[in-house]
Amino acid sequence: MNKKIEVPMSRIKELISLIEKWNYEYYILNQPSVEDAVYDKHWQELRELEAKYNYILPNSPTQKAGQTASPKFRPVARQNPMLSLDSVDDYENLLKFDERVKKILKTDQEIEYICEWKIDGLSVSLVYRNHHLSQISTRGDGVIGEDITFNKELLKNVPFFLKEVANCEVRGEVYMKKEEFLRLNEELKKSGHKLLANPRNAAAGSLRTLIPLQNRNLHFFAYQLFTSNFPTQLSCLQELEKLGFVVSPDYSLFRNIEEVEKFIQQQEKKRESLDFESDGVVVKVNDYKHYEKLGQTSRFPRWAIAYKFPASLAVSKVQNIYVEVSRNGRITYVAEITPVILQGSKISKVTLHNYAFIANLGLNIGDEIVIKKAGDVIPQITKVIKLNGSASWQPPTNCPSCNSNLKWNSTNIYQLCKNKKCPQKVVNYLVHFASKRGLDIKGISTKNIQKLYENNLLNQPADFYHLYQKERQLLKLEGFRKKSVGNMLHSIENSKKRPLANLLTALGIPLLSSVKTQKLTKFYPDLSSLLTAVKNEEWEKFREILGEETQKELKKYLSEPKNLSLLEEMKLIRELPST
Ligand code: IVH
Repeated sequence: MNKKIEVPMSRIKELISLIEKWNYEYYILNQPSVEDAVYDKHWQELRELEAKYNYILPNSPTQKAGQTASPKFRPVARQNPMLSLDSVDDYENLLKFDERVKKILKTDQEIEYICEWKIDGLSVSLVYRNHHLSQISTRGDGVIGEDITFNKELLKNVPFFLKEVANCEVRGEVYMKKEEFLRLNEELKKSGHKLLANPRNAAAGSLRTLIPLQNRNLHFFAYQLFTSNFPTQLSCLQELEKLGFVVSPDYSLFRNIEEVEKFIQQQEKKRESLDFESDGVVVKVNDYKHYEKLGQTSRFPRWAIAYKFPASLAVSKVQNIYVEVSRNGRITYVAEITPVILQGSKISKVTLHNYAFIANLGLNIGDEIVIKKAGDVIPQITKVIKLNGSASWQPPTNCPSCNSNLKWNSTNIYQLCKNKKCPQKVVNYLVHFASKRGLDIKGISTKNIQKLYENNLLNQPADFYHLYQKERQLLKLEGFRKKSVGNMLHSIENSKKRPLANLLTALGIPLLSSVKTQKLTKFYPDLSSLLTAVKNEEWEKFREILGEETQKELKKYLSEPKNLSLLEEMKLIRELPST
């Protein structure tokens, strides 16, 4: 029996309404609320669903080239529609593009390609009549554009007069240089205006305004010229340059797609150093004689493709939010997400920092999220795309480890577990004590520390140093073998010799960072001198070394008899001969 395939209608409709909202913000308001990569991901998902289920709603944005022209501009009708470009974001799909080109052209021969930067601006058509620049229009919906001729003074590198050609149309990309964008935002900030999201929107906003703006500088890269026929894209770019237009820097010709691949890898490294924003490379069949045969879809020509550089952004979904308690009792909030690959690594968890962060985002389980990673920085949630308008996630009232009632910190930003015996707090404290920054006890994992704690062999830091007397008990524990126990005990023994600064860091005294412990131990190089200073109440000297706030915390810590006796015990342990 045939199984009926259910079309995911609600997702398709959801995607259409999201994309329409974003189109409006981007094209009409010039105020996007999501990054291009987020838009592209949703667009791709919509296209994939439409293809998979062969189900395309008539109002789907995938069926339109660009956006309807805004009624605030005079419409410009064009015979030759301004199309958009299809895109790929990996080499596999770039190769598929090459295969498709060869298939349509019914050839096994290699295809020559021209590569240009994909400039992140807005496409514009310049019409020259009788040698003069007579009309400038934006793409609009491709067929009907918007007349923005009145803003021609903003274009700083476009010739207003062509000596050698009387009538022609030039198409290209208007963009704002990165430097100009920073300058403009600085200016807007000073005058208390809203800042612009990115150079592309700054360019679009400047050009598509009815109020004349003098203090904005836009530039233009030309990529198409409609006059007498040229044989190739290469000759077209050369002709544009001869006429006085600026074309994409480093445009190059390649004999085949493999060469293109190498070039793209090389260009990606250059991207940051450009003085304009580029999000990829446009790969175009060089020979115009193939263009007619290759043809076009309703939106894209089949003779070109945009290779988009991988984004440092990914879209995912919150599957769960859970809390953990740290060694100092602070509650941390973590989102479990549908795993995604971001810059080569798989991400399935993201930190939510504190409750204020969650509340500000309005985040909840089931929400779609945008995660961003820049360089070595840990991935962060930068945006929430609400699909069901759900309220923000509500924090728990009890500690996930000991179930005691959680308290809020004084600024209501995060919660705290105040129970000194909270098992997770104690284990995390012991883990911190043994960590590299602390006493660097090698060969003892968090799991082992947990196990030793559960078996009552480890409750406080000094207990590490009594473990050698309990070797028999240790060997009875699951996963503790003779060799690893030997290594562990050896490493514990070695940790006695670590500098005092490490021991003080290991104790986790609030505000006493490793930099501050270093400072302190310059004056008090061993525990005896430090403990004598405490006995003599040299608080003023501590304040001079550490600053007021840290001194207060240290004083508070040392005023607790339990802490002082731990230090006394550690002093004895460190003085004891090796076992
Ligand atoms: S050629 C038929 N070349 O990218 C369209 N377009 O995402 C021919 N773009 O609509 C366009 N740099 O606005 C071409 N070097 C370049 C480009 C470029 C940026 C824009 C163009 C296009 C959009 C597609």
